Amino acid sequence: MTQPKNAPPIRRVAIIGASGKLGRYMVQHCLDRGYEVVGVCREQSVGKLDDFADRITIVPGKTDDPAVIREAVRGCDGVLTVLVPWGVQQYASGTAQAVLDHAEEDARLIFSCGWHITRDGKDQYSLAFRVLLSVASFLARLFRFAEIDDQVEATRRIFASDRRWTVVRGSDLEEGESQGLPVWAEHVGDPLLASNVTRRIDFALFMVEALTDPELEQVCPAIVGCKTPSAQAHRGARERRDHGFGRASLAHRDRISGFSWA
Ligand SMILES: NC(=O)c1ccc[n+]([C@@H]2O[C@H](COP(=O)([O-])OP(=O)(O)OC[C@H]3O[C@@H](n4cnc5c(N)ncnc54)[C@H](OP(=O)(O)O)[C@@H]3O)[C@@H](O)[C@H]2O)c1
Repeated sequence: MTQPKNAPPIRRVAIIGASGKLGRYMVQHCLDRGYEVVGVCREQSVGKLDDFADRITIVPGKTDDPAVIREAVRGCDGVLTVLVPWGVQQYASGTAQAVLDHAEEDARLIFSCGWHITRDGKDQYSLAFRVLLSVASFLARLFRFAEIDDQVEATRRIFASDRRWTVVRGSDLEEGESQGLPVWAEHVGDPLLASNVTRRIDFALFMVEALTDPELEQVCPAIVGCKTPSAQAHRGARERRDHGFGRASLAHRDRISGFSWA
C-alpha cells in the first residue's frame, strides 16, 4: 500500500478502544511501524495495556466522551476506532461522532465493524446470517446489553461525512498467528468472502495498513483472511481466467477488486 501524494505522512496515531483484543493488536502493529501511539480506553481497562505502558500515551475515559476524544486525537495523523455497540446509551454513534467532530482536518479515520453494516444496500446476506443477526439484535435489545442499531447509526454518520474515512467490515474472527493482509470485496456475497473468517491479528493489520492506502478512502471493504479457501479459490479462478494477461494488468485489476498480490 502506498502513501497518497498530498496527505500528511502518518506519524502519530490515536487508537480509540485500545485495550480490547483488536485494539491491542493495532497498538502492536502501529509500534512496529514506528508510529507514536495514543490509546483511549475505559479507566477500569488501563491495566490491560500494561505491556505497552512505557511506549504509548494512555488517555483513560469513555470513548464517547468528546473531551476525552478531543485530547486523544490532537496532533494525530490517523485515528483507528473500534466501534462497539455495547450498552444502551448510543455508545457507538457517540464514539463515531466524537471522532468525526474532533479529529484533525486531514486525519485518516479508520473504523471497525462487522459484515452486517451495509453502505448501499447491495450486500447479499445468507439466510443463516440474517436469522442470526435478528436473534442477536432482539436479545441484545431485550437484555439491554447492546444496541446493534446504534452501530448502524454510527456508520450512517461516517458515510455521510466528507472526512477521509474507511469503514472496515470484519468477517467472523479467530485467534492465531498472522497469515498476512486480508483480501477484501466491496460487497458481502462476493464469492471471495465465502469462507467468512479472518484472524483477529490480521483484521488489525488491515486497519493499520488502511491508514496509508488512498484507494480505501471513503470505502467500506468487507474483509476475509488471505489464506482462507475462498480467497485462495478466487485467486486460482482469476489466474485461470486471466491466462495470457501480463502480471501488471492483473495487479491493476486486483487493486480495483481489493485482491492483493502481496
Ligand atoms: N467478535 C467478532 O466476531 C467480530 C466479527 C466481526 C467484526 N467485529 C468487529 O471487531 C471490532 C472489535 O471486536 P472484538 O470482538 O475483537 O472486540 P474487542 O477488540 O475485544 O473490543 C471490545 C471493545 O469493547 C469495549 N467494551 C467491552 N465492553 C464494554 C462496555 N460494556 N462498554 C463499553 N465498551 C466496552 C472494550 O473495552 P475494554 O477493554 O474497556 O473492555 C474494547 O475496546 C468491533 O468493531 C466489532 O464490530 C467483531
